[in-house]
Amino acid sequence: MIGGLRLFDEVDSTQNIAQRLAEDGAPEGTLVIAEQQTNGRGRMGRKWVSPSGKGIWMSFILRPGMPIHFAPQLTLLTAVALCRALRAAAAPLDIGIKWPNDLLIGGKKISGILLESTAEEERLRYVIAGIGISVNLTEDDYPPELREIATSLRIQLGRPLDRAEIIAGFFSQFQQLYAVYQREGFAPIQTLWEALSVTLNKPTRLIIGGLETTGTPVGLNEQGALLVRRNDGAVVPLFSAEQVPPG
Ligand code: BTN
Repeated sequence: MIGGLRLFDEVDSTQNIAQRLAEDGAPEGTLVIAEQQTNGRGRMGRKWVSPSGKGIWMSFILRPGMPIHFAPQLTLLTAVALCRALRAAAAPLDIGIKWPNDLLIGGKKISGILLESTAEEERLRYVIAGIGISVNLTEDDYPPELREIATSLRIQLGRPLDRAEIIAGFFSQFQQLYAVYQREGFAPIQTLWEALSVTLNKPTRLIIGGLETTGTPVGLNEQGALLVRRNDGAVVPLFSAEQVPPG
């Protein structure tokens, strides 16, 4: 799976480096890892805290050659691979997936996934899969406003973890699942995702089209959208809603 490894001490964002490599023709599996990002980014234009040597900040290139509307499935596949790898590395922590791209422990975020796609005529030319894992950050590494909502494996376990082992575990999981996906499609990945999800069957506040509402996520559709049962009983697909934690 890994096509070529590029290691950096400091970059603005591993997403940018991987994108430049993809534009220059780098193959699927090319992996960019940085000790530190000065301008790490998350979804919705958020900043991603990426202090030096404390986490895993990496991006890799996929060239799945499929229609662009399947891209959300790759986010979910990546989340399953990451969740399985982190559960194995950080047992007995109870790590779950919050749709679409967060990994949580006890409601606090430990990892995020950012898939950025480039398409031509509705087909994916390449996808940059970015993963941030807060491995060995301490409380002091988080700005005060994040301390209530974010955590690290080290804080939760009470001991540091080896980052290289986690990266190897992730790619072993990813490779297996990507092969299953290419052979059998999304259905088996969907089953695994649903079993690891902390989102399903819990009434949740949601923002849909800028408006806040509530609904109960009941599953995924075949494109990877979240199916939400609204209060009026209708079940609607949600592609990019921003979930609001209950409470
Ligand atoms: C999110 O939860 O909003 C997604 C966070 C993704 C962060 C990773 S860190 C490596 C890669 N480079 C970035 O700038 N972002 C992703």
